[in-house]
Amino acid sequence: MNDKIIFTTSRRRLTEILIGLVSLFFASGAIATILKYLWPQTVTAASSEVRIASVDEVTTGSAKKFTFNGKAAVLLHMPAGFRAFGAVCTHLGCIAYWKPEENDIFCPCHIGRYDPNTGAVISGPPPSPLPAIDIIVKEGAVYALKWKDPDYVRSISFYAGAA
Ligand code: FES
Repeated sequence: MNDKIIFTTSRRRLTEILIGLVSLFFASGAIATILKYLWPQTVTAASSEVRIASVDEVTTGSAKKFTFNGKAAVLLHMPAGFRAFGAVCTHLGCIAYWKPEENDIFCPCHIGRYDPNTGAVISGPPPSPLPAIDIIVKEGAVYALKWKDPDYVRSISFYAGAA
C-alpha cells in the first residue's frame, strides 16, 4: 500500500516535470521569436564583400584570378578602371584568363575571346558574355560585391548554384 502511494507520487511528479520541460521548450521558441522580432539581424552589404586584392597589387593592364561564389573569376585593371567577371567560359565551361598581349579575356579550349571591358564575346564559339561582378574600391583594396545580373548568371549552366 505504501509502495503504491510512493509510486503514484513519483509518477505524478514525473508527469509534472515532463509537462514543465515541454512548456519550457515551447516558451523558449516563443521567446526566441519575440527577440528576433525586436532585434532583427541586419545583413549589410559589407557582409557579402569579398576582398580580391589591394589596389597596388593589380596595376593597370594586369589581372588577378580569384574565386567568387565558388566560381573562377578574374579582376582586371583596365585604363578605364577595375572590372571583374566570372572566368568560366560560357561555351563549354573552360577557364578563361586575361591575355594582355591580345587585350582580351581568352579561353584556350576553343579560342574564345571576350572584351575585357564588358565581358562581351569578341570572337569564337562562346554563345554569351562572361557575367560581370559588381566591385567596389575602398581603403586601398578592391572588393567583389555581387553578380551584376543574377538572373543572367542563373541562365548559364556552368554557373549553377553561383547566383
Ligand atoms: S570552352 Fe571556352 S571557347 Fe569553348
